[in-house]
Amino acid sequence: MNDKNSKLIEEIQFMIRTIRSVRHVNFYFVLSIALSILITALEAIGLISIVPILQFLGSDPLHGSDSFLSPFFDLLKNDAGVIDIKKVALFVLFVAILKSTFVFISGIVGGYIPVMMKAGAVRSLLKMHLRSNLINLMQYDTGAWTSVYYRFIDQLCSIVMSVASSITQALLLALYGGIMFAMSPYAVMLTLLFVVVLWLTTRWMTDRQGRIGRQITDAATSYQQAGLQMISGMRLVQTVAGEDRMEEWVAGKLHTFVKFHYKAITASSIMQPITTVASGLFVASLLFFGDSLFSGKETDWLGSIILFVVVFYRMLGPATGLYGVRITIAQLWPALQKVKMFFELCSRSQLSFGDRDLGKSPSFDISISGLNFGFADTPILQDINLSIPSGSMLALVGESGAGKSTLANLIMRLYPTSAGQISIGGVNISEFSRKSFAENVGLVSQDTILFNDTLKNNFLFVQPDATEAEIWEALKKAKADQFVEELEQGLDTVIQEGGSRLSGGQRQRIALARALIRPKQILILDESTSQLDAFSEAVVQETITNLHGTTTLIVIAHRMSTVRKADAVAVLENGRVVEFGTPNQLLMEDTMFRQMIEFQQVSPA
Ligand SMILES: Nc1ncnc2c1ncn2[C@@H]1O[C@H](COP(=O)(O)OP(=O)(O)OP(=O)(O)O)[C@@H](O)[C@H]1O
Ligand SMILES: [Mg+2]
Repeated sequence: MNDKNSKLIEEIQFMIRTIRSVRHVNFYFVLSIALSILITALEAIGLISIVPILQFLGSDPLHGSDSFLSPFFDLLKNDAGVIDIKKVALFVLFVAILKSTFVFISGIVGGYIPVMMKAGAVRSLLKMHLRSNLINLMQYDTGAWTSVYYRFIDQLCSIVMSVASSITQALLLALYGGIMFAMSPYAVMLTLLFVVVLWLTTRWMTDRQGRIGRQITDAATSYQQAGLQMISGMRLVQTVAGEDRMEEWVAGKLHTFVKFHYKAITASSIMQPITTVASGLFVASLLFFGDSLFSGKETDWLGSIILFVVVFYRMLGPATGLYGVRITIAQLWPALQKVKMFFELCSRSQLSFGDRDLGKSPSFDISISGLNFGFADTPILQDINLSIPSGSMLALVGESGAGKSTLANLIMRLYPTSAGQISIGGVNISEFSRKSFAENVGLVSQDTILFNDTLKNNFLFVQPDATEAEIWEALKKAKADQFVEELEQGLDTVIQEGGSRLSGGQRQRIALARALIRPKQILILDESTSQLDAFSEAVVQETITNLHGTTTLIVIAHRMSTVRKADAVAVLENGRVVEFGTPNQLLMEDTMFRQMIEFQQVSPA
């Protein structure tokens, strides 16, 4: 089997797995297929009722093969044994109402399935996504992830629905084919000839549709990414008077997206005229060769041709439907491949945790030995060896890009370590459960992350059982109580997207308060006071100083005033610890640390 085929099989298997993971979906699928069969049967019965009408007109289109249908036709005859056209009319009406009822139910079931599937697929991706290794996830930006959740999963459902609808279409095709074959195998051969010619002439178009589909998918992602960047970058755009440039950039992406859509529409619009001309040709040939294709006297074979043509036109619906399914699949397949890629990425990135309870650790000494770390092939941290005794305070300083935040993230276990190890109380951090780790180790990250929800809920997200009193206490420690009190709705104030209703320093203090809500054994503060005014910072410093001795503190700061009280300072340069010692020791020598202090003209305590 070649590579392309095995890939295709894998993609189909993935699709089936995704569908099957959705609860109750099997039941709805079976119901949907059962309804399709019922509708097809009613369609057949409705169609056959044209025969008595033709018989009424004196033709016998089912010449010689109507015996098994005779009892059925007898029902539509009057006492004199002649077709009763009124009975036929009532019968046709009855069948139409019954069929419509099933079509209605089938519409509802068919509508439920994609919604259920979409929700199910999103849930399973979400479940894995949240538990994945951040490093792997960071290969793709927000725009790419947004496309997966809001576009590609939708499209995956459309593919499945197309396949499901093709079952009904195929059933109808088989039914009509059967009827036509019963009437005249030769005429069916003529029909097949037309179908094959039509198929061959339109085949290249399916390939083209596939190509355009891929182009649309890429253009859509790129357009979405540009849009997201525009929204988040508005402040910069206006600051640098970049409105025209930004508009041009986003509009350019939109233009590409629209252009490919137009291409797809043009390509699919050609189908209808081709099929119409072809079917006209087909009917003309039937009439030309009618006497040799159908048996019986002229009134009979003309009746047969009428029935044959009626069936043929009915067949065009499901046939173009099936063709449409092919086009839809060709266009949307790239979306399936993308969804599969992201599912796989998450599935192979699942983080594993141990089940040890960090809370029960006899000591909280942190020891880092021989730690190396890099993103992809770029080494970031090299041979880091540090030990941070329980209750002490380590200041991590160094130039921007030296690797301080990366080290903090590694200690927090946000990234798995590849070489070397980080242990707490002598136990590798990978052995602790995520929950016990989070309960005992806190991190205030460099970028403040607040959810678009009330202030209170932002606290409850990190500490679900926190009381309002505890929240106020924490706000006080982070010098955030005053401005929250001044907010009209206090803790019920909704923080808007990205915290835009709060200033940078206010957001930072909220984030700090959130980390201080319950005492932690270890607290990592990554530039957590960088945006505070000197007065607020002094209050926060006091809070941190109070923790000194009971909590192991790792403080990353550019401001030297923050690191004055540290027990030890580690200076990082290009991912290596180049200086280590107490602040005073480092100040006595000609060190980078001393240069930093002198540069900021802040003397150590
Ligand atoms: N997701 C990532 N993928 C690839 N490289 C990254 C990623 N995150 C950070 N880096 C690189 O790792 C290096 C260290 O980054 P890090 O954020 O740890 O620096 P830092 O010391 O905290 O700097 P700053 O003081 O500016 O916060 C930088 O060179 C940065 O470009
Ligand atoms: Mg940093």
